[in-house]
Amino acid sequence: MINRVLLVERDRLMLEKLTQVVQGTRGFELVARYQSISDALGQGAIFNPNLILLDIEKQNSVALIADFLKVYPKASILCMGEKWQAESASHIVKAGARGYIIKPFTGVELQEAVDTFAKMGSESGCETLVFFSPKGKSGKTTLIANLAVALARKTHEQVGIIDADLQFGDMAVFFNLAPKSTIVEAARDAKFLSPITLHSYYMPVTQNVSVLCGTETPNLSDKVSIRRLENIISMSRSLFRYLLIDVPPGFNPTSIAAAEKSNTTFLVSMINDAYEIDHTKRALEIFKDWEDYNERVKAIFTRVEPCNSQSQQNLANKLGYPVTAIIPNEYGIVSDAADNGKMASDIRPDSPLARSVDRLADEITGRGHRIRWEKS
Ligand SMILES: Nc1ncnc2c1ncn2[C@@H]1O[C@H](COP(=O)(O)OP(=O)(O)O)[C@@H](O)[C@H]1O
Ligand SMILES: [Mg+2]
Repeated sequence: MINRVLLVERDRLMLEKLTQVVQGTRGFELVARYQSISDALGQGAIFNPNLILLDIEKQNSVALIADFLKVYPKASILCMGEKWQAESASHIVKAGARGYIIKPFTGVELQEAVDTFAKMGSESGCETLVFFSPKGKSGKTTLIANLAVALARKTHEQVGIIDADLQFGDMAVFFNLAPKSTIVEAARDAKFLSPITLHSYYMPVTQNVSVLCGTETPNLSDKVSIRRLENIISMSRSLFRYLLIDVPPGFNPTSIAAAEKSNTTFLVSMINDAYEIDHTKRALEIFKDWEDYNERVKAIFTRVEPCNSQSQQNLANKLGYPVTAIIPNEYGIVSDAADNGKMASDIRPDSPLARSVDRLADEITGRGHRIRWEKS
């Protein structure tokens, strides 16, 4: 489909610059351009644009978008500004724009913006899932990697992983990636990025799964400030339908900041000795500060033997809190898969581990509930 572009830009020089970019980009046709908003609203409709590039710098963007949607109900609106701000970006998406691009941009960036925004949902439609563990070695990285692949396979939606286990993140190893860029570069550049440009810091794993890899060495972790991390999470929310975040074990500024940004925080513990229940209980206590913690905090145990509903119920009884998922003890499959840079669920789709992960994916996408509650 050809993009019939209506360009609205107050600044004369910028308008010239962007005109050349649009005209020079394949698949884009400039059908009209205006410096004045009232002209664009009053005269542009006869050109039947399907993509509006709208300067919102120093304007009431929400009102502006509403005006354009009224006149151009079928067109996609991409807002343009000089720098990305999390707050304004979520406002404009709520107001009905497809997304935001930083100007001036190149033809490649324009193309990428249109492709990305066509593929993904809006920020408000992103489920942000944080995986918290009271202690290290909880099986959470294994779970996140397998779950991301399962979510993408089931929904065909875009799934992102942020490895924010800043000192000892190993998501890259898990997926056999040699990242060209990591969370360190993303944090360094965050101020100048829009979601579209942030996307290029993610490494693709499959068609629908990408990873923002962790630091290459532990000493780099202090290069990622909490504010930048929050910024990266906010921006990433407009890139993916599901965003899975791996955080360092225990309560620390990073894990807390990520959990605060989540729709759901999973408390993940691996069954090893008798203490997991106790640790999870104590972690639950801390999350009770959240008013909505009953819906927002979910418990998961890994390496559960035997992995059946009876065990799940027993764990829930001991914990005094529902247990959302249990993952079986399958060291062989997990480590074979990791050696191959593949997911356990891909190597052995019928294994108990893959099925447990699938069930959790159903729970997250709402299919689990539907299966259970829907009559017929
Ligand atoms: N379900 C499982 N059954 C058996 N071993 C597992 C399982 N999940 C993970 N492991 C193993 O436990 C270790 C820690 O797993 P990992 O996912 O890296 O945990 P974390 O990210 O919490 O440190 C790894 O050696 C991994 O192979
Ligand atoms: Mg880990």
